[in-house]
Amino acid sequence: MGILKLGVNIDHVATVRQARRTVYPDVVEAARLCEGAGAHGITVHLREDRRHIQDADVSALRQGIRTRLNLEMAVAAEIVAIACAVRPDEACLVPERRAELTTEGGLDVAGHREAMRATVRTLTDAGIVVSLFIDPDPAQLDAAAAVGAPYVELHTGTYCDARGASAERELRRLIAAARHAHGLGLRVNAGHGINLDNLAGILQMPHLDTLNIGHSLVARAIMVGMGRAVEEMLGAMAAYRGGQAASA
Ligand code: PXP
Repeated sequence: MGILKLGVNIDHVATVRQARRTVYPDVVEAARLCEGAGAHGITVHLREDRRHIQDADVSALRQGIRTRLNLEMAVAAEIVAIACAVRPDEACLVPERRAELTTEGGLDVAGHREAMRATVRTLTDAGIVVSLFIDPDPAQLDAAAAVGAPYVELHTGTYCDARGASAERELRRLIAAARHAHGLGLRVNAGHGINLDNLAGILQMPHLDTLNIGHSLVARAIMVGMGRAVEEMLGAMAAYRGGQAASA
């Protein structure tokens, strides 16, 4: 068993920047901080509505990071063309609905085999390692293997949002799905909704390669960084000597 890797999803860094259309916080700088702390890869989702990550971010990250770049993307011709041009190390195909707050469920690979097979082939031919984001459902796993994807990312969101007996049931599904995927020769990643409180359950899943985590890490970064940011601002404000009016 190799080390369990962490891919940090930094979409929310771009969300903060886009809230003001400023140039900061800089996503490459954020990615380098993640890498400096030991992250094994950086994940971004270039959504069709460009609500956070922009095309230029993907190119800048491609040039500016030292680890692996994983591009989350819809099965959409425009985005596939961008991926083939920018060539992230990995692409994770996800379903995308414009009104959703975040990715809400796994792909229906079984229901769209030909489109999936064609997209997996196009990306693979461009040298990109493809992963399919799917629910822990054996039929979807079988379809993922059949369309030629080397990786799946198991959708952990339902487990992470569940409590009590339903959380236990969802965790059993994830464990069974990881086993089933491994048996099909698929490599297994997992992601969505993972935080420090539910991680212990996730770690019970066998055959894991990488966890992709975003929201909880950016949320935590705000909490561990806010005090420092306020101290920096107060330090700079301490230069105040009454302003120009007072000295006139
Ligand atoms: N994996 C996939 C496929 C996702 O769509 C997301 C959310 O962008 C994540 C992982 C990370 O989820 P979270 O932000 O809840 O940690």
